[in-house]
Amino acid sequence: MTESPAAGIWGTLPRPFSVLAPMEDVTDTVFRRVIRAVGAPDLFFTEFTSTDGLCTAGRPRVIDRLRFTPEERPLIAQVWGNHPERCLRVAAEVREMGFDGIDLNMGCPVRKIIKRGECGALIDSPTLAAELIAATREGAGDLPVSVKTRIGISRSRAEEWIGFLLGRGLAALTVHGRTVAQQSEGHADWGAVALAVKLRDALDVPTRIVGNGDVKSAVQFRERAEETGADGIMIGRGVFENIFVFKTIRDMQAGNNPGADFALISPREKIGFFTYHMLIHRETWGPGRSFHSLKKFAKTYLRAFEGAGALMDQVMHCSNHDSALAALDAWMPDGYGSRMNAAAPGTVTPSSDG
Ligand SMILES: Cc1cc2nc3c(=O)[nH]c(=O)nc-3n(C[C@H](O)[C@H](O)[C@H](O)COP(=O)(O)O)c2cc1C
Repeated sequence: MTESPAAGIWGTLPRPFSVLAPMEDVTDTVFRRVIRAVGAPDLFFTEFTSTDGLCTAGRPRVIDRLRFTPEERPLIAQVWGNHPERCLRVAAEVREMGFDGIDLNMGCPVRKIIKRGECGALIDSPTLAAELIAATREGAGDLPVSVKTRIGISRSRAEEWIGFLLGRGLAALTVHGRTVAQQSEGHADWGAVALAVKLRDALDVPTRIVGNGDVKSAVQFRERAEETGADGIMIGRGVFENIFVFKTIRDMQAGNNPGADFALISPREKIGFFTYHMLIHRETWGPGRSFHSLKKFAKTYLRAFEGAGALMDQVMHCSNHDSALAALDAWMPDGYGSRMNAAAPGTVTPSSDG
């Protein structure tokens, strides 16, 4: 099972490349388009999507997780589930849908999922993990297959587990340097990412190693990549602290100043992009998805400028897109917000007076 995997998209990325982490209820088609407009990573992931859900009557509830538009590419579909035959079917479908790869989640620490032996619990079930990977590879054909995992369940078993995964013919392996028991606590162990690179080199397999955990800035991106030799660095929660983080990485890689700290970004830009986020959220989901699901993003934008607290308070009291958009627009009476173009993502150009 160590034959050369199809590297596909993973083989074309610059090194070190940046990746937006899969985040449930966050990194849907809307959020990915916002990130594309704000400053994109080299690679996007979907939220994790249940293969059981996709193959059963629950399908209508989960299929939206695999919705995407061309500007979100390159895009990896992340899936999970413990039935090899469903992984095979879903991998074939993901390929048909036009994704750039499929990733198996072997790290989610949610208790009820772990109790069922799924995701992070697979670290203790290597035989099943190998079957799931093999079935996914069969269904995926020439589409690259990757895994995102942690370093152990209650204690680190990084060497054994990562070594095992590196023998499975994966195009890429993302290592989040925490155990399942740690959830999001403590610090991510980047020594485990460096170990993954060493093991990969010793085994002489072409699997790309992606490191993940606690990276929040362009400088940390560079430091973690240099320290570990990882091919790519994945960032999750860092986007909430600085939604422009991938732009700052691109600026740094282009030899420019890694750009502004979030505090130095103009309020017009922050409010402008929140407006854009709301517009495409409304356009994409219509009345099917509540405005309230957007409120968790308010402090991603409405922070670190005078009046931010009051504006945030206003938005939190709104009950629909229209009233929230009006509140944002009123903050910028020149109509900057209403000039945002939801129909043409990527053309969110602030006016020249901005
Ligand atoms: C809200 C939220 C949802 C997440 N959903 C997923 C998911 O669907 N799939 C996955 O592999 N990891 C998921 N994660 C874990 C992240 O992908 C990432 O591994 C973790 O947050 C550590 O990276 P960070 O410190 O850069 O955030 C989620 C994390 C958060 C905060």
